[in-house]
Amino acid sequence: MTQRRVLVTGGAGFIGSHVVDALLARGDEVLVIDDLSTGARGNLGDAVECRTVDISDGPELGRAVEGERFDSVVHCASRTKVVESLEKPDLYRRVIVDGTRNVVDAALATGARDLINLSTGGAIYGETPQCATEETPLRPASPYGEFKADAERIVGDAGLRSVTLRLANAYGPRQRRDLEGGVIAIFLGAWQRHEPLTVYGDGTAERDYLFVDDIAAAVTAALDADVMGVYNIGTGVPTSVLALIEVMSEVLGPPAAVRHAPRREGEIQRSCVDVSRAGRDGLWRPRTSLREGIERTARA
Ligand SMILES: NC(=O)c1ccc[n+]([C@@H]2O[C@H](COP(=O)([O-])OP(=O)(O)OC[C@H]3O[C@@H](n4cnc5c(N)ncnc54)[C@H](O)[C@@H]3O)[C@@H](O)[C@H]2O)c1
Repeated sequence: MTQRRVLVTGGAGFIGSHVVDALLARGDEVLVIDDLSTGARGNLGDAVECRTVDISDGPELGRAVEGERFDSVVHCASRTKVVESLEKPDLYRRVIVDGTRNVVDAALATGARDLINLSTGGAIYGETPQCATEETPLRPASPYGEFKADAERIVGDAGLRSVTLRLANAYGPRQRRDLEGGVIAIFLGAWQRHEPLTVYGDGTAERDYLFVDDIAAAVTAALDADVMGVYNIGTGVPTSVLALIEVMSEVLGPPAAVRHAPRREGEIQRSCVDVSRAGRDGLWRPRTSLREGIERTARA
């Protein structure tokens, strides 16, 4: 494996910062582009260069990478909140659709050979009675999901070797508790403060919980492999909220209390991705069990 110079957009965020760590650990050189809207400089080591740039501003991004050469680009920058995307669709279109177009232009202008794009399983497949394969028709139920599907097409048409990773529900160290989605981060916070957990609905809603280091490993595998196209990245195992609480209780002891609240409008019952393609193509397999991932997150 040769050393690469990699541009990581959104590298100061939750997943992006773990991608940066994985790249540095194998000797790659990294430049981060991030507007720090939800990311934080503190997620990155002091030695990592981070330029504060809004990817939706094409000229600004162009200036930020002018004269640079990269082997590869990993595109993690995005707005990521489903509910906020319903309230601010223009912002989400600008960042996700225009932003991805600008990142493709930056990749081409800096000589990058490959582009790894982080996308979403949950928000673009919608309700999945069986774990969704890459052939499952897309049914995004929010502007966030729609624009992420648009971004996938932009990346696919870029004329580079591109790989889009459709991620399941990520969790792990550095995940923010104040953002929607990260139920494990939210529950861990409640556990640590001895506060009751709130379960929306009856707790049977299922998600595919994926440890963040496994995502970083999928990104480095996608950089190294000779593959293209779309891959689901998850565990292939749906876990209900009640089952999640059980595993967390085994690791952390019993919670202070469990409170039930009405099911939230628009919440899907089951979201899970089938990861056979990534395994079949020798690209990647999930490694971290839910229990181990929770232990590692709680310890961090
Ligand atoms: N967390 C999950 O469960 C999950 C699931 C599926 C897909 N994803 C995808 O993974 C990627 C990373 O998500 P995350 O969970 O780490 O979220 P995050 O909010 O922690 O990271 C996103 C990063 O992008 C930056 N950013 C946002 N808008 C920007 C802009 N206009 N210009 C430059 N930088 C900008 C943010 O500051 C942040 O650092 C996203 O593409 C997201 O859609 C995440």
